Amino acid sequence: MAVRGEGIYLFDEDGRRYVDACGGAAVSCLGHGHPEVVAAVAEQTARLEFIHTGFFTNDAAEELARTMAEQSPGSLDRVWFTGSGSEAIEAALKLARQYHLERGDTGRGRVITRRQSYHGNTLGALAVGGSVWRKLPYEPLLIHVAAVDPCFEYRLAEPGESSEAYGRRAAQALEDEIVRLGPETVIAFLAETVVGATAGAVPPSGDYLKYVREICDRHGVLLILDEVMCGSGRTGTFLSCEQDGVAPDIVTLGKGLGAGYQPIGAVICTSKIYDTVANGSGALKHGQTYNAHPVGCAAGLAVQGVIKREGLLDRVSEAGGRLASLLSSRFGSHPNVGDIRGRGLLLAMELVADRETKAPFDPALAIHQRAKRDAFDRGLLIYPGGGTIDGGRGDHILLAPPYNVTDGELEMIVDLLAQTVESILPS
Ligand SMILES: Cc1ncc(COP(=O)(O)O)c(C=O)c1O
Repeated sequence: MAVRGEGIYLFDEDGRRYVDACGGAAVSCLGHGHPEVVAAVAEQTARLEFIHTGFFTNDAAEELARTMAEQSPGSLDRVWFTGSGSEAIEAALKLARQYHLERGDTGRGRVITRRQSYHGNTLGALAVGGSVWRKLPYEPLLIHVAAVDPCFEYRLAEPGESSEAYGRRAAQALEDEIVRLGPETVIAFLAETVVGATAGAVPPSGDYLKYVREICDRHGVLLILDEVMCGSGRTGTFLSCEQDGVAPDIVTLGKGLGAGYQPIGAVICTSKIYDTVANGSGALKHGQTYNAHPVGCAAGLAVQGVIKREGLLDRVSEAGGRLASLLSSRFGSHPNVGDIRGRGLLLAMELVADRETKAPFDPALAIHQRAKRDAFDRGLLIYPGGGTIDGGRGDHILLAPPYNVTDGELEMIVDLLAQTVESILPS
């Protein structure tokens, strides 16, 4: 039973202290109990706790949308607020389909996604995800989507293939699939800019996303990037795709947007998409009671205020580099650490039975769960995952500390993690 949070620490009912090195699932980007965000939430709740978007907009939503648009590349300048990441994905998919309908392009009904991806757990978001074990029990309820391989260099590049060549080849798989399906039937390609929970902090290789952008444009297919986990500053820029020199048509956000102080997600789309709907039927045929919730937006606005004032995007890049080098020096030659990867403060280690062959552990050993349990008992919270390779095989440990993490805290995280690795995988 957790009862209190302060900075990077959580405390349970027995007074035990835990170092939160993953913010739950990459959520708590300012740590716990940040007084400025707490105050903003209290102020908004007292002044205007709720309005329905069928009647009014509100100042927190408008101001937060402005801030987000300003920080987004290309003409991504219209924002739709939701209550979670899954809801953002649902809204993004509907918006993409409606965009084509408004233009009279009615034959586009398919979405292409990637294997080993996660986009949420509501039925639509689950359907477009590529996490096999999450989908299996609900298969009869899910829409059918086409899927291509992720851009996952450690696992899918040929020996000796450069990042650049591999990135191009991985993107070509998308074009092949679009052509196979018939471009006139495809609504959108959906991908996480940096793969989060399913494969463990996998960034794109070479110019993969640039090729993907070109391919989508060539075939009239919208590009939707899911940055629910990797966006909102987690990798050192407001949107991670900025680092790839790519602007999608639609991007989804969540998690770090509200930093856990309130549940909030968002969809940002280009003015072209917005105008097509606005000048067509007039409105997205979608809506939920808590869209643009004033308290959620006030939390998001306060989070953005802290990030800006304290220069935390730069701190993410710096701290991410520091954490990556601490991990490399501690685990870089460990026989069971196959890969250390990620971007900014979204980093992961893939655990393997054999470093040379990259052979994974027997899934029955549930190494990732043992790591979580051992770390928990030591007072360290990490976000491990299994099925890293194909939904069944593979283990990784994901780290996502707060943007304002100190160097001392990073060292403490790596020290505790080293104790866990040594305990479950003695070298
Ligand atoms: C990339 C990505 N998309 C979507 C979601 C779904 O967000 P939520 O759990 O807020 O519905 C997640 C959550 O882990 C995610 O990591």
